[in-house]
Amino acid sequence: MSKKKFFVTTPIYYVNDRPHIGHLCTTLAADVLARYHRLLGEDVFFLTGTDEHGAKIAEAARKEGKEPEEFCDELAGEFKENWDKLNLSYDFFIRTTDPRHEKIVSEFIQKLYDKDYIYKDKYEGLYCIGCEKFLTDSDLVDGKCPYHPTKEPVKQSEENYFFKLSKFERDIKKAIKGERGDENHYKIVPPNKEHEILSKLELGLKNISISRAEVSWGIPIPWDKKQTIYVWFDALLNYYTATQFLKDKKKFWPADLHIVGKEISWFHNVIWQAMLLAADFPLPKKVLVHSFYISGGQKMSKSIGNIISPEKLISRFGIDGTRYLILSTFPYPKDSDITMDYLMEKYNADLANGLGNLVQRVGKLAEKIGLGNLEVKDVNNLETGVSIELFRFSQALELIQENISILDKYIEKERPWEQTDGKLKNTLLKIIVGDKNSKSILDIAFALKPFLPETSEKIEKIFTADKIIAPKKPLFPRV
Ligand code: MSP
Repeated sequence: MSKKKFFVTTPIYYVNDRPHIGHLCTTLAADVLARYHRLLGEDVFFLTGTDEHGAKIAEAARKEGKEPEEFCDELAGEFKENWDKLNLSYDFFIRTTDPRHEKIVSEFIQKLYDKDYIYKDKYEGLYCIGCEKFLTDSDLVDGKCPYHPTKEPVKQSEENYFFKLSKFERDIKKAIKGERGDENHYKIVPPNKEHEILSKLELGLKNISISRAEVSWGIPIPWDKKQTIYVWFDALLNYYTATQFLKDKKKFWPADLHIVGKEISWFHNVIWQAMLLAADFPLPKKVLVHSFYISGGQKMSKSIGNIISPEKLISRFGIDGTRYLILSTFPYPKDSDITMDYLMEKYNADLANGLGNLVQRVGKLAEKIGLGNLEVKDVNNLETGVSIELFRFSQALELIQENISILDKYIEKERPWEQTDGKLKNTLLKIIVGDKNSKSILDIAFALKPFLPETSEKIEKIFTADKIIAPKKPLFPRV
């Protein structure tokens, strides 16, 4: 029997910005899910990448006095470097400037043109370069884009190609609601985000412009080379193109899960779905819409200048320390307001004093009596599975913390350091390997696999060695 497949995606990040924890949280969430599904024995494809065309990127390159190609190479490299450092186990990193992607995007838009879903008209209105979005009156707050309140929306008036989005209103609603027998049923989580989309759909859909006459940094419209394809139309298709131009990946299409932030929910839950319906393609199975990291009540972003970079966290808390902190504050379903002080406290409590200390103490006692070569039971129960599948990563980590604290309490009660060697051996066996009724250090290491892969491996290595030796340096030094 062929294995179950799991195709998970992150948004592809704009390269005008350096990676920050808003980007990291989405990629890390996808990583946990990818690792979890691999543990279940499924065939996993985890896709991430960068969004490199459009006015915003061209402008950012110009500001730095660079050609867009060179600028994109640098920034895409920076994203990749960060993700590699953090052990994000993506299977492919797509860049929209990849000619293989560009070719399939051209073919796709040509197909919709041939099917009469695209026509030429005049666009007059406002445009937010920050979002790369045509603004409607209902988008505006005090005349500005709510996500870029410091930027004036640009007035635009040009001949563009339009996509007949309005034709798909009924079918999108049907797909979201999963009316009986609709094979295209897809789920939006959490439910309030589904509700938000459905109520906006009630207001009706207007056709949208999908080309730009004055932006040359993009993929040309195949039948009218003076225009380029609207950057969102190009970017959304990455989820499809990667499965087509890579070897042996066609079987993963369509996505099982798109993970996206709330400001791009509309693009993924309405425009993307309409594009797929227009092409007679199957729809994804689920779209997870997360909220934001905020600071002082504002979305963390470059334009507001309140970002925390992954590098800053890594230098203070290490790789797995960073992973732990981001996952335990993952902004879902609500926004997450974090400060460096809070992260430091959490790190010291849960990792330095909690997990790290437990491994050190038990390691030392085992080393003292020359324990090793333990008979290890097969661990494969993932009691955190339900929380992972519900995207409640902090809840999953709390569950693991609970098991750590049960072991800590057991140690305090038994006072193994006062025990004779024979008794000590039994106590340690119970702590390290466990028995039917208790969770052990090795169970904890297993449960940590999707979250802290390096730490999990280190712990397994220490306690399954021929001779247990406590780590020379603490796993999580106090900060
Ligand atoms: N390029 C588009 C996505 C195209 S996908 C076909 C884009 N890029 S982005 O770099 O601006 O944002 C990417 C993701 O980062 C979004 O899901 C966004 O929600 C997320 N975050 C950016 N800032 C964030 C926070 N402060 N907090 C949490 N995530 C946020 O949009």
